[in-house]
Amino acid sequence: MRETEVATGALDPKDWAAFEASLHKVLSAAVDKLKAAETGRVWTPPPEDIKAQLHAPLPVKGLEYDALVAQLTVLLPYGVGNTHPRFFGWVHGSGSPGNLLAEIIGAAMNANCGGRDHIAIYVERQVVEWCRSLFQFPDSASGLIVSGTSMATIIAAKTARDRALDFTSRTDGVGDTKLVGYVSEQAHSCLARAFDMLGLGTQALRKIPATAGFEIDLAALQVQISRDRADGFHPFFLGGTVGTVNTAAIDDLKALAEIAEREQIWSHADGAFGACAMTSSELAPRLSGIERADSLAFDFHKWMHVNYDAGCVLIRDGDAHRRAFAARPDYLAANGVALAGGDPWPVDFGPELSRGFRALKVWSHLLEHGTEKIGRAIAENCALVSGLGEKVQAHPDLELLAPVSLNICCLRYAPASLKRAQLDDLNTAIVAQIQNEGIAAPSTTRIDGALAIRVNITNHRTREEDIDILLDAIIRTGVDLSSGRSL
Ligand SMILES: Cc1ncc(COP(=O)(O)O)c(C=O)c1O
Repeated sequence: MRETEVATGALDPKDWAAFEASLHKVLSAAVDKLKAAETGRVWTPPPEDIKAQLHAPLPVKGLEYDALVAQLTVLLPYGVGNTHPRFFGWVHGSGSPGNLLAEIIGAAMNANCGGRDHIAIYVERQVVEWCRSLFQFPDSASGLIVSGTSMATIIAAKTARDRALDFTSRTDGVGDTKLVGYVSEQAHSCLARAFDMLGLGTQALRKIPATAGFEIDLAALQVQISRDRADGFHPFFLGGTVGTVNTAAIDDLKALAEIAEREQIWSHADGAFGACAMTSSELAPRLSGIERADSLAFDFHKWMHVNYDAGCVLIRDGDAHRRAFAARPDYLAANGVALAGGDPWPVDFGPELSRGFRALKVWSHLLEHGTEKIGRAIAENCALVSGLGEKVQAHPDLELLAPVSLNICCLRYAPASLKRAQLDDLNTAIVAQIQNEGIAAPSTTRIDGALAIRVNITNHRTREEDIDILLDAIIRTGVDLSSGRSL
């Protein structure tokens, strides 16, 4: 068919039955992968032949469905490995099969959730409403479903910045306003990135020392705020972390709320994964004070096991949130009539105009599982990590490098026979070898300068036996590597 003859609906299947059969094949392959999620290798490097196959010219002619299905399903085994119970790296949620249901409906709707009056907007509002209730934010608080905590943090920090400058920053920029903010040195790098992107510069985000428990040092914070005021700076943002990325430490949120109120500073809580512990009646008391934050950023895709990507920002002062983002040209005016009704629109609360229907998978996931089951899975993860900490302490060749908090344990292989200076390289090599062998996938970080094997569990599939397999692998690999090299 010549280009000029392309029929209306050119991208619709010519044979719907063949399309549906292909969809079933894809679905079966996806379900088979998830049914086997607890078996096999954790991570398999992408094979050279598949990488070579990807390296192809821009397709001019399309494929038949069978060929397309083959190209799609061949990718399935080569993910990062986070669906496997022995994926312990970084902070990756494991996801859950139920997401497939929502993703199919979402794909069929193809909703653009920047605004307008359609059902997806109401679903998103309901998810935000549930979040407000989970974290005891007032009805006047606003929220948005976003790609993740990094984006949520940018939105929160921009709202704080603009409110601090009476919203003149939206037109005039920040100029020489000397805005400064505060987080602990253990805070996630997304906060400094937000300061960078908002034109404040990363140096305007003061890194306050942490205590021995890796929580923000409140006395040092007070000293820095007073010093900054004396030097003519304008403190406007105070970030606490609910579960730091290195050790899952929880800053004293109540104390931070009090300091923020006294100093008239915006208080922000980074609860990327830790805030999800609010769903556990056992753990929720440890998050006390989170309900007093001016803004909260957290992810559904980490400890709530919604598939990537889905995060949330909640902002106590919903008016300020809207004033920080609302700016509609004529063609986007909400006139309250028909499809242009449904005010306010999500575009009034964030930087994206076109946005997908992320809220659907979150809504469906919460309907499917409820917070009770999710909270129980989180508490079980914490119990496993606490047990891991005890096993590490009981083993003569292992060393616990930080107190165990929530779901993260930092350890290293450190037999007394080895020199301390050799341990960083050795532990880096242990982690790489265990990952390469497909046995488990911890990651690394540094604790007080020492290279740590970092074990994070945000995985509803992980069991005690997985912890034992990991520990055996660390010790066996440590023995092998240290005996085989000149240390
Ligand atoms: C404490 C903390 N904050 C922020 C982030 C960034 O979240 P995201 O990757 O969803 O943008 C992470 C990621 O691990 C985190 O652990």
